[in-house]
Amino acid sequence: MFQSTIFGVAALCVATSAVAQVAPAPFSLPPLPYAAAALEPVIDAQTMTLHHDRHHQAYVDALNKAVAADPALKGQSLDALVAKAGTLPVAVRNNAGGHWNHSFFWKTMAPPAQAGQPSPALAAAIDRQFGSLAAFKAAFKEAGTKRFGSGWVWLVAKADGTLAITSTPNQDNPLMDVAEVKGTPILGNDVWEHAYYLKYQNRRADYLDGWWQVVDWKTVSDRYAVTLTR
Ligand SMILES: [Fe+2]
Repeated sequence: MFQSTIFGVAALCVATSAVAQVAPAPFSLPPLPYAAAALEPVIDAQTMTLHHDRHHQAYVDALNKAVAADPALKGQSLDALVAKAGTLPVAVRNNAGGHWNHSFFWKTMAPPAQAGQPSPALAAAIDRQFGSLAAFKAAFKEAGTKRFGSGWVWLVAKADGTLAITSTPNQDNPLMDVAEVKGTPILGNDVWEHAYYLKYQNRRADYLDGWWQVVDWKTVSDRYAVTLTR
């Protein structure tokens, strides 16, 4: 009996040690940079909570699971996975994209009172490329409404320094090797139904119109400024 008890304690110690040595999951859900209700009335609190706490969390969980199942992916950064997404299993491509895109998306927005305007440099670049801010917004909306099914619409800075609007399916993005139009995203909107359906139902165009009220132009302008230094 005594020996059995000692043996049991020893086994427990080994088991505890094994648990302690399990590496933490490499990817985690970033907190929203504002309260869930902060973007109302454009995006309601329930949509924000479900979108962040459930949908984004699911991408993070599935990405951790997929990476844990493939030793070749151990230790690789999110940016590295995204850059070669087309060479990776579809679960890694979709969930690495989902994690990258949503992390970027939350930071692209701010409460309406803090939305601001494009910096003079970004405003000038938009005017050069699209004619005016209004023309840019119209073209961005068109790209978002024309995205069949689920996906994203982006404003990117291309390698040649020009701006472009592009749209990607599913959770792809313009940093991926598979992207039709490649570039550095400086602005992106999620046109999956989970981003707007509770408030806008099937009216994606209305969501795209309203969304400009919560675009954080300071962050977007800062991202553009970084691309000018490369
Ligand atoms: Fe989403």
